Amino acid sequence: MAFTTEQKKIIDEIKKLKKAKNAIVLVHNYQRPEIYEVADFIGDSLKLCVEARNTNADIIVFCGVSFMAESAYILNPGKKVIIPFYDAGCAMADMLKPSDLIELKKKHPKAKVVTYINSSAEIKALSDAVCTSSSAVDVVKGLEGSEIIFVPDKNLTDYVAKQVSEKKIIAFDGYCPIHDFLTRESLYEAKKEYGNAKIIAHPESKDEILECADYISSTSEMINLAKKDPAKDFLVLTECGMVERLKKEVPDKNFHGVCNFCFDMKKNTIESVLKCLKEEKFVITVPKNVTEKALKAFNKMFELTKNGQKND
Ligand code: 13P
Ligand code: SF4
Repeated sequence: MAFTTEQKKIIDEIKKLKKAKNAIVLVHNYQRPEIYEVADFIGDSLKLCVEARNTNADIIVFCGVSFMAESAYILNPGKKVIIPFYDAGCAMADMLKPSDLIELKKKHPKAKVVTYINSSAEIKALSDAVCTSSSAVDVVKGLEGSEIIFVPDKNLTDYVAKQVSEKKIIAFDGYCPIHDFLTRESLYEAKKEYGNAKIIAHPESKDEILECADYISSTSEMINLAKKDPAKDFLVLTECGMVERLKKEVPDKNFHGVCNFCFDMKKNTIESVLKCLKEEKFVITVPKNVTEKALKAFNKMFELTKNGQKND
């Protein structure tokens, strides 16, 4: 990837500031390629949680969306967690309010609650376990109880329910517009052009899409799958940033996006990362009582996934 002289200057400045301030930059796979250049770690939600939990840095600059930065704060509350844009949210996380979950819990008093990380800290605090796309099946399988309320993503719920048929799974009606709007028609069109391509899809996609996929995985796992599979061409069904990430990590293969952009993920720019680190804002915090309860739900995920290693 070629960067402009101005971008290179900013990248150098960020690297110097990171050292001076003992800061690390955690970057989600969907971020812009120039932001990858200043990352200490690039990954999916689970890998970024593990890094946030283990870091000794004083400052965590989180390049992703706000629920990810909140999660970093919950996992390592002594650290200063900052994000370039205070309003980089997640449309799916915003769909579920604490009152909706309280209602569901009342309706199903015996059920345990597994909450996808794409949710607010308050929702996590009301849950028995948190999960990510790569740990969802293990968490639902491993959690005690035969009835599970799984929120907020109805598509991920369908996917998990198929893998864990021995449990009754109760869904909420949330979804990610970026993934839910992918259609079979757009996939057929791409297949016409790249007939031999393997299809890799994110489990936030609809069942009708997942049925056509060769692989269903978290964003980071897509990289491992593309490296291992002998195919040369891949259709990538998730947020469009993943296509850039795959091209960078697996340069000898071809990746074609059947994808949409997540505008919240794309709010961060290399300029805003520099400003964020210089001014040390916007600072993310979570109230103490919420942090304590949400941390218990995170720890349940770590217990059921051998500290996040099980999905490597
Ligand atoms: P991953 O944990 O697979 O990276 O997914 C995060 C996300 O927001 C997908 O839309
Ligand atoms: Fe949320 Fe969807 Fe964007 Fe992921 S891609 S952050 S689930 S809106």
